[in-house]
Amino acid sequence: MKKLICVAMLALGLSACSGQAPLSDAQPVNVKSLAGDSKISEVRPADIMPEYPNRGKSLERTFADQPPLVPHKDYAISIKKNTCINCHSPAKAKRMRTTSVPASHLEADGQTLKGENYFCTQCHVPQASNKQAIVDNSF
Ligand code: HEC
Ligand code: HEC
Repeated sequence: MKKLICVAMLALGLSACSGQAPLSDAQPVNVKSLAGDSKISEVRPADIMPEYPNRGKSLERTFADQPPLVPHKDYAISIKKNTCINCHSPAKAKRMRTTSVPASHLEADGQTLKGENYFCTQCHVPQASNKQAIVDNSF
């Protein structure tokens, strides 16, 4: 019985709403949000997307022991597969003409990647080629 009353009330509620005409002369509401100062009724142009070179040259490091910036686009890393290793493992680096991961990233056998170094982008971030358009930086 309770269920039936609930359904009936819901139907009543829905039919009450459906007859309403949309407000055509709604005033813009000023809400400060992550989208910035633009009014909620305006469509703001999208932010500039970062662009990465397909293949870039190694970038100069800014401080000692910095994990070097990635001079190319991002590649997928998942629990099952690490694409970075296809080009940067010590076994493949020479053939792929890349810098091999340093010894600090490897187990004592010099081949197996250490677990704590698996998620490369935790420390190495790709450097966008249009960076100044995205964030102003004078570092
Ligand atoms: C298709 C091959 C390829 C793949 C896949 C790849 N890279 Fe690279 N990477 C390169 C090449 C080529 C360079 C430029 C030569 C160099 O310095 O190693 C480079 C450079 C780098 C450098 C700069 C090295 C330095 O000493 O300045 C880092 C860091 C790097 N890659 C990290 C990554 C990470 C992290 C991934 C996965 C998200 C990845 N790479 C996937 C080819 C690749
Ligand atoms: C915990 C942070 C961390 C993670 C995770 C990590 N790295 Fe690094 N990486 C560093 C640091 C710090 C350096 C610079 C110091 C050094 O050589 O050990 C470096 C150096 C490098 C270099 C330059 C080596 C050279 O001789 O110039 C390459 C290439 C590189 N990492 C690739 C990778 C790849 C590929 C992965 C993922 C498989 C990865 N790194 C994961 C911190 C990290």
